[in-house]
Amino acid sequence: MHEKINRLLAEIEGCTAKSNDEVEALRVGWLGKKGSITSLFEEFRQVGAEEKRQFGQQINRLKQAALEKINALREGLEHHNDSKQTFDATMPGEPAPLGARHPLSIVRGEIIDIFKTLGYTVAEGPEIEDDYHVFGALNFPPEHPARDMQDTFFITTGDNPVLLRTHTSSVQVRVMECQKPPIRIICPGRVFRNEAISARAHCIFHQVEGLYIDENVSFADMKHSILYFAREFFGEKVQIRLRPSYFPFTEPSAEVDVSCNICNGKGCNVCKHTGWLEIMGCGMVDPNVLEASNIDPQKYTGFAFGMGIERIAMLKWHVRDLRHYFENDVRFLRQFAAT
Ligand code: DAH
Repeated sequence: MHEKINRLLAEIEGCTAKSNDEVEALRVGWLGKKGSITSLFEEFRQVGAEEKRQFGQQINRLKQAALEKINALREGLEHHNDSKQTFDATMPGEPAPLGARHPLSIVRGEIIDIFKTLGYTVAEGPEIEDDYHVFGALNFPPEHPARDMQDTFFITTGDNPVLLRTHTSSVQVRVMECQKPPIRIICPGRVFRNEAISARAHCIFHQVEGLYIDENVSFADMKHSILYFAREFFGEKVQIRLRPSYFPFTEPSAEVDVSCNICNGKGCNVCKHTGWLEIMGCGMVDPNVLEASNIDPQKYTGFAFGMGIERIAMLKWHVRDLRHYFENDVRFLRQFAAT
C-alpha cells in the first residue's frame, strides 16, 4: 500500500492537461467513485489498527495533492485562454487591403471635374425611358433605324413605347422641359443597346452628354470647350480635329478626333495608322429640338456633345478589350488602386 501511494504521488506530480476535459478525466481517475485514491480509502478499512494512523495521514496527503493538482491545472488552462484573447495595442496592425475605385468611375469623375470648371452642373435622368424622350423630342424621324428592335431594348409597344435609353441625350430633353436657358449641364449615365458583346461593344455601357444653351452660343464656343476638355484630359500637347457628321438632334454635326496619345500622331495599330482617335460626337442643337421643348430657337442657340466613358477609359489606359471593365476581375481592378 505504501508503494501504491508513492506511485500515485509521483503520477499526480508529473501529469499535465491540455483541456478542461482532460483535467476532469484525471479527477475522475483519482477521486471518482472507482478512482484510484477512492479505492485506497476502501483498502484503508482493512488495514491493521497500528498502521491506520500512518496510512490515514498518507492517504489524506495524497488526496490533498490530487485536489491541488486539479486546481492548478484548471487555473493554468484559464490563464492560457485569457492570454490568447488579450489585445496588445502595441503590436503592428494587420494591413487592411485597399480597395480601388472602378476605372469607369475614375474617368467619369475626371470628365465631370473638367466640365465643372467651365460652369457645367451634373444632371441625371431615368434609364427606363420612353420613345419621346429618347427619339421623338430629339428629332428622330419615325422610321429612323436607331428605333429598330435591332438597336433598342423595348419594354412595351404602342404609340410611345417604354424602352431602355440608348443614349444619355434623353437627359437633355428632361432638363430643357423644366429649365429655361442659360442651360449648361453634363449628364453621365448608363445606356443600353441590343449589341453582341465583343472587345469593342457591349449591350450596357456609359456615356457623358453635354449641353450648353444660351443667347449667341456659337460653333466656335463648342470647338473651344472641346479643345479645353481634350487638353485637360489627354495633356497640353493633344490636338483635335472635327469631321462633318450627322445626328438627328444637331445641325451641323461633327465627330471629334484627338491626336493619338500612343504614337503622338505618327501612326500605330491603335489609331490604325491614321494618327487620330475618335472620342465623341457633337453639334449645334437642331432648332427642332429646341422647339420641341418650348425654347425659342430665334433667341437661343446651343451645342451638345456626347462621348462613351468606356472608350475614353480605353484610350487613357490603353486597354484593348472593353469586356475587362465589366468582368470585375480583381487582378484588373487592383491596377487602379492608386489612381
Ligand atoms: N447620342 C449620341 C450617341 O449615342 C452621341 C452624341 C452625338 C451626343 C452628338 C450629342 C451630340 O449630344 O451632339 O451616339
